[in-house]
Amino acid sequence: ASANIGVVGLAVMGANLARNLASREGNTVAIYNRSPERTNNLAAAHPEAGFVTTETMQEFADSLQRPRTAIIMVQAGKATDAVIDQLCEVFEPGDIIVDGGNALFDDTIRRERAVRERGLHFVGAGISGGEEGALNGPSIMPGGPAESYETLGPILESIAARAPEDGTPCVTHVGTDGAGHFVKMVHNGIEYADMQLIGEAYDLLRRVGGLEPAQIADMFAEWNRGDLESYLIEITAEVLRHVDPETNAPFVDIIVDRAGMKGTGTWTVQTALSLAVPVSGIGEAVFARGVSGRTAQREAVRPTITSRPEMPVVDESFVEDVRLALYASKVIAYAQGFDLILSGAEEYGWDINPGAVAKIWRAGCIIRARFLNRIADAYGRDPQLQSLIADPYFAGEVAASDAAWRRVVATAAYAGVPAPAFGASLSYYDSLASDRLPAALIQGQRDFFGAHTYGRVDKPGAFHTDWSGDRTERRTDA
Ligand code: 6PG
Repeated sequence: ASANIGVVGLAVMGANLARNLASREGNTVAIYNRSPERTNNLAAAHPEAGFVTTETMQEFADSLQRPRTAIIMVQAGKATDAVIDQLCEVFEPGDIIVDGGNALFDDTIRRERAVRERGLHFVGAGISGGEEGALNGPSIMPGGPAESYETLGPILESIAARAPEDGTPCVTHVGTDGAGHFVKMVHNGIEYADMQLIGEAYDLLRRVGGLEPAQIADMFAEWNRGDLESYLIEITAEVLRHVDPETNAPFVDIIVDRAGMKGTGTWTVQTALSLAVPVSGIGEAVFARGVSGRTAQREAVRPTITSRPEMPVVDESFVEDVRLALYASKVIAYAQGFDLILSGAEEYGWDINPGAVAKIWRAGCIIRARFLNRIADAYGRDPQLQSLIADPYFAGEVAASDAAWRRVVATAAYAGVPAPAFGASLSYYDSLASDRLPAALIQGQRDFFGAHTYGRVDKPGAFHTDWSGDRTERRTDA
């Protein structure tokens, strides 16, 4: 046995991860793919990697030092289950199977239990950063048994991205069984929200602010030097600056305005709904992609509209307003995402350290951003923080954006430019900020039609009013 780590599944992500592993001091990497041709091609294309090529699962297992550690990078779903079964046949107790795909955390919980029953370790690890990240340093979110991290940790640390601020590798043991994939799922939900918010900011700057894509690219590039500094802002500037070589039109005008999705954002919202966690910004981001794809409906509705609102007149302060609205809404997206992570941790019994999660998102992943340092600081100050926006720093940041945020949401409404994520984020903030919510009225309605009872502000207990009779009240829980 000559390899300390193996990779199964050599499509782009697997191949790049294998190359990344091989490039790090001390690693020898065994590789396996269902079709051996791919295995051999990868080894031939990268002789510098010194891959140990294998053609059968048995050969793959024999090539690995114990405890054997294999990272599988195959399609989520059935293909993953099939590979896990095959590995279980040839691996031995104590060996570690790592699923580096975008698996649904429920599946990971189930697989971890099944693999554990066979005496092996199963680690569901979220890996973010796309193809480039896999090759040069992703952010890695492993779950599974803490024990497996003793073997796996140093290997993952060798390939992970490093935070620019302090050079720490962007990987940590997130929690047991499905915790890693849960956190990766929420990462993707935040990614959706971030992208939607940036999209809304662009749309407003263009349609209300009257700026051209190239000018907006300059704005984003400038914003990328401040609080908003992040990978997504950086690439937004690149995309907006690009001119279509064929038509000379701004490239963004050439792309069909229909956003695809592979499902992780939807999972985030489904999970949040089942836990009653209000991730409204992420939800609007998923719905906005949905609306964009309703091509026939968009075409049916457009001709029925005979008058559009007049464009409000704005001055140059609008740009700064949009920046502040984007920043405040982004804080809300993270506040909601972390709320979901901590609610998931409570539901599934994971000991997740939110500050550590913020730290491993500082580099490598799609949502990497400077302000994740601030989030880590906030949870460092108070590990029991109820909400990110209850932290004094973020409370101050949001308060400082307050007026601009409201102007932007109002302007969007006046202008008829959709800004669902901006609006939902602001409403969420206002909900948390309100002394009283109309939920009181809803409880009254529920009690009226279904005797669902209500609590009173002035005394403990559950009560019901006899709505159809004489409206006397009785206590129902005593
Ligand atoms: C990452 C990304 C990646 C994800 C796509 C999918 O962290 O590297 O989140 O894992 O597959 O970005 O997003 P779509 O649903 O938009 O296809």
